Amino acid sequence: MDLAALEKQLRTLQASAETHVSAVTASAELDDLGSSLLGKRGAITEILRGIGDLPAEDRPKIGVIANEVRAAIDALVSARRETIKADELRDQIERERSDATTPGPAPSVGSLHPIPETIAAITEIMAAFGFVVAEGQEIEDDVTNFQLLNIPEDHPSRDLWDTLYLKEPGRLLRTHTSPGQIRTMQAGGPPIRVILPGRCFRYEAVDASHGFEFHQVEGLLVDRSASLSDLKGILNELARGLFGPATQTRFRPGYYPFTEPSVAVDVSWPGSKDGWMTILGAGMVHPVVLENGGIDPETHQGFAFGLGVERIAMLRHNIPDLRAFLENDIRFLSGFR
Ligand code: PHE
Repeated sequence: MDLAALEKQLRTLQASAETHVSAVTASAELDDLGSSLLGKRGAITEILRGIGDLPAEDRPKIGVIANEVRAAIDALVSARRETIKADELRDQIERERSDATTPGPAPSVGSLHPIPETIAAITEIMAAFGFVVAEGQEIEDDVTNFQLLNIPEDHPSRDLWDTLYLKEPGRLLRTHTSPGQIRTMQAGGPPIRVILPGRCFRYEAVDASHGFEFHQVEGLLVDRSASLSDLKGILNELARGLFGPATQTRFRPGYYPFTEPSVAVDVSWPGSKDGWMTILGAGMVHPVVLENGGIDPETHQGFAFGLGVERIAMLRHNIPDLRAFLENDIRFLSGFR
């Protein structure tokens, strides 16, 4: 092996490196190619093994050439690396480019639970008649939940309400929103036009149409004069507002110790599959109840009604089982938009 032959090998290597390097398109591949040319076990090192065969005075010359070739290849690789990097960056930008005109992910919008939704619907209708929302309390006392509503202790009509009593004597979970009538009357004199929505509790065996926890909306009007026909007119409007303009109502005699006379109100509409459905109890406020509320029954009259929110929500939305209201199943809840 002489100087010329070694030089030729190096130049050939340089030439072929040029073709190979410019053909590479990925960084990792270029790294491999770079070390196979320039590395410790690379092609140049391999060629320079032949240096031992050269006469001593030629060795520095081939060293100079080898350095030249090494530098040239190194420059090729570096230049190629820059190009590849730029290409890769451009590709990445292209890949990750966001298109501002693409529709975004739909935001998840919540909706009212059917119980508050129904209470809101009732509130809106009653607001048109001047009724404002007031609040009662869930923990009541026996006196307000029963006695002041004309239901004495040991009165058989208490059997209408399966009461959950608290440990503290005289305390209970309200069985209806009617004690709110007493509290409202005591809090301020007539004229009164309130609705009292809220949760009530009864000791009931739970099934598709009974819960031990449910909602009512109480309505109370007290003024110098109020009549059963006023009550009828308002309840007719309420029924039509809730179930549609073609809704019919039926007023049947009912019994509640705190109203006299008392009525039960049924609704029906064209195509309603269950015929008449009872949605509320109502009546003229009993004089004794007015008195218990601090109002003179000689000068004032009132009417009251109490409706079951679950029942109404079930009828409005065709819900077959009221247990669904408490299960928090998102598939059920998201059905009311
Ligand atoms: N409080 C009665 C009930 O729970 C409903 C009612 C309210 C009846 C007001 C008449 C007047 O069944």
